[in-house]
Amino acid sequence: MAELEIRNLHVRAGEKEILRGLDLTVGSGQIHALMGPNGSGKSTLANVIMGHPNLEVTEGQILLDGQEITGADPDERSRLGLFLAFQYPISVPGVTVTKYLRTVLNAHRESRGEEPIPLKEFRQTVEAAMKLTDVPRDFSSRYLNEGFSGGEKKRMEILQLALQKPNLAILDETDSGLDIDALRVVANGVNAVAGPDMGVLIITHYQRILHLVQPSHVHVMYQGRIVKQGGTELVEQLERVGYGWIREEFDEAAPEAA
Ligand SMILES: Nc1ncnc2c1ncn2[C@@H]1O[C@H](COP(=O)(O)OP(=O)(O)O)[C@@H](O)[C@H]1O
Ligand SMILES: [Mg+2]
Repeated sequence: MAELEIRNLHVRAGEKEILRGLDLTVGSGQIHALMGPNGSGKSTLANVIMGHPNLEVTEGQILLDGQEITGADPDERSRLGLFLAFQYPISVPGVTVTKYLRTVLNAHRESRGEEPIPLKEFRQTVEAAMKLTDVPRDFSSRYLNEGFSGGEKKRMEILQLALQKPNLAILDETDSGLDIDALRVVANGVNAVAGPDMGVLIITHYQRILHLVQPSHVHVMYQGRIVKQGGTELVEQLERVGYGWIREEFDEAAPEAA
């Protein structure tokens, strides 16, 4: 069980203030969607939650289960059960998928004071997770993300998600650039692993994944803040009219921020 709470977060990258007073709470068992036009700061939010070294928190807090993690390093956050599926997963030539997954799993076990996973149990766990996420078995012996198509990389992220069973999973545009079949795999994977012990934050520019994974809460981000919150009716509204009305409404309310 875990609750992520973000309070009045201000974040800079270099000279630029990207997040400008953002509040967000994601509880266990909830699926939140974070939408917003390109450049509104969605990826920056995902990265700062994970502790990206190039981002500077100038004000505000990030808490996990009431414990402040604003300054924790990325490793510690991962051990505490935060997981980020990247918008652009990187390749790791020379490291096979199996080796990588085992290393990650064991690092998490070690932090909980557990022994490394026995080989047989590891094989069974990975096989079950591969089945769940529809990842072909021959992935195991390939080098991580090397020569993977866009869709395969995203499946790989979902496979990791299924294996790690984090407390809070953040998917940053995991749906972008996917054809409908790959999108279904991603959505089915998320639906299969989400549960009462996991919070999910789906970051997306588009609506289509939100027809396959039903969010309980929807947030719209604009210029570094959450400017709208609601339910799936917001998704429908954005689908019909795009982001123009958000721009108009927000720029009108705070013209100095335009
Ligand atoms: N490291 C950085 N240095 C300077 N500006 C950045 C950096 N990272 C992101 N930005 C800028 O911050 C804004 C928000 O970016 P981003 O978080 O990627 O938005 P989104 O994911 O919503 O498209 C953009 O204008 C982007 O150019
Ligand atoms: Mg982004």
